[in-house]
Amino acid sequence: MKPINVGLLGIGTVGGGTFTVLKRNEEEITRRAGRPIRITAVADKNLELARKVAGADARLTDDAFSVVADPEIDIVVELIGGYGVAKELVLAAIENGKHVVTANKALLAVHGNEIFAAAQSRGVMVAFEAAVAGGIPIIKALREGLSANRIQWLAGIINGTTNFILSEMRDKGLPFADVLKEAQALGYAEADPTFDIEGVDAAHKATIMSAIAFGVPMQFDAAHVEGITKLDSIDIQYVEQLGYRIKLLGISRMRPEGIELRVHPTLIPAKRLIANVEGAMNAVVVHGDAVGATLYYGKGAGAEPTASAVIADLVDVTRLHTADPEHRVPHLAFQPDQVRDLKV
Ligand code: HSE
Repeated sequence: MKPINVGLLGIGTVGGGTFTVLKRNEEEITRRAGRPIRITAVADKNLELARKVAGADARLTDDAFSVVADPEIDIVVELIGGYGVAKELVLAAIENGKHVVTANKALLAVHGNEIFAAAQSRGVMVAFEAAVAGGIPIIKALREGLSANRIQWLAGIINGTTNFILSEMRDKGLPFADVLKEAQALGYAEADPTFDIEGVDAAHKATIMSAIAFGVPMQFDAAHVEGITKLDSIDIQYVEQLGYRIKLLGISRMRPEGIELRVHPTLIPAKRLIANVEGAMNAVVVHGDAVGATLYYGKGAGAEPTASAVIADLVDVTRLHTADPEHRVPHLAFQPDQVRDLKV
C-alpha cells in the first residue's frame, strides 16, 4: 500500500524518539494507520545529527521551508519549538495543504487561534497530542473520551521539571538552584528553563486543555501565572508536617462569570492520588458532569513518551484523512490470522 510521506522539522530528542518508535513498532503502526508511515524528509540545522538519526532513508536538508513546500510530503511534523520560525513553517505547511502534527505548546497557546482558523479554511488537520503532558493521551481524552460531558474543571501537574524540583527539595532538602541544574542535566527543562520554573510552560499546556475542554479560543493572555521560584525547602517541609504537599497545578474551571485559567503552587492533602505524583511524572484530573472525576497519569516529557503522542497523531491523521473508508474504523485494525482461541 502506498506509504504516507512525512516531513520532519527538527531532529532533537523527540525527533530521535519518533524514528526509534516508528521503526520498532512499524508493523502495529502500519496496521492501525491503514498504510505505512515514512519519514521521507528531515530538516535540521545540524545535518550531521540528522544523518545519524535518519540514516539514508530520508532527504536531509537545512532548509525547513523546502520541506513544507515539497509536493511529495503529506504531513509535516513540527518539532522545532518556540513562536518564531515554527509559526511561519506551520502556516506555510497549512497553506500548502499539508496536515500538521506538532508538539509545540507555546506556539498553540499563543497563536493557536490563528493556526486553527488557517487549518479549518484550508481543510487540513493540526494535531497536537504531544503538546500537553507528553505521552499521556489527554487531548484525546478531553476531545473524544469525554465528549458526552459538560466538563466542570480540570487540574494537572503538567510540568515535569517543576514537579521533579519540588520532589527533590522535599525528599533531599536540596536548594532550588541545585535541583534545577539536575533537571536541566536530565533533559526535562525547556531551552529557557524560566518557562518551567515561572509556570509559563504549564500555562501554555493549561491554555490548550482549557480551550478543548470548554470549547473556547486559546486565552493564554488571560491566565494567572505563578511559578515555584519563591518556594524554599523549608516551606515544602512545613507543609508536609501539616499533612499537605505543594504541587504546581494548571487549573481551569467553568464559572458563571467565565472560564477560569490559572497556574500556581497549590496545597493538596497528602492522601490524594495527585499529591503522590513524584519526579518528572505528569497527572491530570478532569471532572465531567456525567463521568465524575477521571485521572490520567504518565510521563510528561522525554524522547519515547513524547514520540508516542506524535506517532499517535500521525496514525490519526493518516487514518482519518487519507486512508480508504475501510481503515477509518480503528477497532477493525486487527489481523484475522492472529486471532486465536483462548483456552481458559
Ligand atoms: N519542560 C517540559 C516539562 C517538557 O518539564 O514538562 C515537556 O513539555
